[in-house]
Amino acid sequence: MTEQKVRWGVLGPGGIAATFAADLPLVPGAELAAVGSRSAESATAFAERFGFARAHGSYADLAADPEVDVVYIATPHAFHAEAAHLCIEAGKHVLVEKPITLDLPAAAQLIAAAREKGVFLMEAMWMRLNPAIRRVAELVEEGAIGWVSAIHADFGLQGPFAAEHRLRDPKLGGGALLDLGVYPINLVHLILGTPASVQAWAHLTPERVDENTGVLMGFEPGAVAAITCSINGESRNNATITGTDGRIELPSGFFVPRSFVLHRAGKAPETIEFPFEGNGYQFEAAEVQRAVLAGELESPLMPHATTLEIMTLLDTIREEIGVVY
Ligand SMILES: NC(=O)c1ccc[n+]([C@@H]2O[C@H](COP(=O)([O-])OP(=O)(O)OC[C@H]3O[C@@H](n4cnc5c(N)ncnc54)[C@H](OP(=O)(O)O)[C@@H]3O)[C@@H](O)[C@H]2O)c1
Repeated sequence: MTEQKVRWGVLGPGGIAATFAADLPLVPGAELAAVGSRSAESATAFAERFGFARAHGSYADLAADPEVDVVYIATPHAFHAEAAHLCIEAGKHVLVEKPITLDLPAAAQLIAAAREKGVFLMEAMWMRLNPAIRRVAELVEEGAIGWVSAIHADFGLQGPFAAEHRLRDPKLGGGALLDLGVYPINLVHLILGTPASVQAWAHLTPERVDENTGVLMGFEPGAVAAITCSINGESRNNATITGTDGRIELPSGFFVPRSFVLHRAGKAPETIEFPFEGNGYQFEAAEVQRAVLAGELESPLMPHATTLEIMTLLDTIREEIGVVY
């Protein structure tokens, strides 16, 4: 049987687009079709570096390319919505980097537009597609560690970042929460769902984006989750899920694990491995292709409802810490 191809376009060929593009050849059926940049030179350089067939010197030209099925939107967060609407309007399926938009109303509008146009849309929360993370969620569901009582997770990057950097620029949706905090928040949401209570505190930069943020969440009937994120210090970047009968420890880089350790009360710890090649973005790309070829408009592994619940949480936390875009 011949393999069904899915023709990929990349919009905004910057840092993460390069890491993603390097993984695309690992996905059976992925065709590197086109790149769209604000500058023809950048588009051409990126296309040549990764082997894309065509280079477009504007996002509109990429959106209008009839030989592209799905566009990966990889601009800074503040520009996700505009670029994704452009592609959806042109009838393209879209995979939109995280966080999908700056706030809940914009995310809801984008999802509504994709549904109306009948195209697939997924937020690129690649962690949820990682095989080890999927196994962790299954084990918890099966009761391997009993009733989950607590989750601890952190994600901090080594600073300092210059004031002009995307991470500190409020016009680009800067700050630790939207860039890094989304990972521990997604992990907590994957395991415990929506919290009954959220308390947050952050220290803000002179530009008034959060640089050091802590969030405490409470869940009925009694679980707690404590997460931190930071752009001024590299923390352990690991996660622990504790239950009444054991715990699961995700190593440093918990958002892209190749293994984890299962501790069951009274038993020796068990290391469970999920080795893979590449950077780990092939799993989200493969899920997009599967869904697009099946005619689905959203993925059951990162559904629209999850994106909206996460954006609701991010908005709530931002209100508490006083970050306004
Ligand atoms: N999934 C992950 O692991 C991961 C990791 C890092 C970042 N991200 C997400 O990916 C997105 C992009 O992050 P990044 O670090 O790759 O960003 P970046 O390199 O700073 O920017 C990406 C590209 O966006 C385009 N762009 C459009 N308007 C822009 C503007 N006003 N200022 C700057 N660039 C603009 C530029 O491409 P052209 O000028 O060529 O069009 C730029 O190269 C963010 O939303 C971030 O949260 C995800």
